[in-house]
Amino acid sequence: MDLISLRDLDKKTIESIISSAEEIDNGRKVDLKGKILATLFFEPSTRTKLSFQTAALRNSMGYIDFNPEGSSLKKGESFIDTIKVVSGYADVIALRHAEEGTARLAADATDIPVVNGGDGGNQHPTQTLIDLFSIKKTKGRIGGLNVTLLGDLKHARAMRSLLYGLGMFGADVTLIAPEGLAMEEDYVEQVRKKFDIKITLKKEPDYNTDVLYVCRIQEERFIDPYEAKRVTEKFKVKKEDLKGAKEDLVILHPLPKINEIDTRIDEMGQAKYFEQAHYGVPVRQAVLEYVLR
Ligand code: NCD
Repeated sequence: MDLISLRDLDKKTIESIISSAEEIDNGRKVDLKGKILATLFFEPSTRTKLSFQTAALRNSMGYIDFNPEGSSLKKGESFIDTIKVVSGYADVIALRHAEEGTARLAADATDIPVVNGGDGGNQHPTQTLIDLFSIKKTKGRIGGLNVTLLGDLKHARAMRSLLYGLGMFGADVTLIAPEGLAMEEDYVEQVRKKFDIKITLKKEPDYNTDVLYVCRIQEERFIDPYEAKRVTEKFKVKKEDLKGAKEDLVILHPLPKINEIDTRIDEMGQAKYFEQAHYGVPVRQAVLEYVLR
């Protein structure tokens, strides 16, 4: 069983992974002794890779890590050959790559499960499972909430995956992005039609919501660095901006956060992004259990 895109999962399966993660978080032990995870990360990662490795250790599994820079890729070995070879060493692969579609390509080349840890600007399904888990945990439900996604929605794979997951669970979604950094229109329309949810598009920050999910403005994509600075400053969430916000607002972020959230917000009870990062372990433990059983 692979996990490449959120579309591979139906609502019942997601609910069962989330409730498994909840049990694990409450102390249930997963015993997958003897199984080995291979982490193949072709793009930088802190949380996704380390929480996958921690999840494997907590499941009594082992893991092997792959460093592309020090591997035979440097001698010209192909990606597919690399996957085929690693398949003989491990029982499951967690993969991150800068190119869209690479996780699917790897899954087609091997019989062992492949879990997508992010493919370019496309999908990041395990992040979405963590996000849905975090919303459920902090708000008690997902359906019927208003969830605002704010930031560079054009380049953030975590936001694309999340929109789909929120649609599946019947949340109302507000998408707020600067000019030129909106999420692809066709994709938004597809999600809206498929799940019949309310999606509102805005170009100005607005914090009147149940869940504020922030992602970074990817400054490296701007041609004009001054424009990037202006947009980043305008979209930076400041402590005083949250004065009129709901008391039980929950603020999430996939991290890394650079300067799009005032660091004074970290100390506010509403900021849940570090907890969210920690939920990566039980959720990925549940994912490894799901794909291996
Ligand atoms: C994100 C990613 O890599 O897509 N990080 C993560 O996995 N928690 C977000 C980002 O890099 O901005």
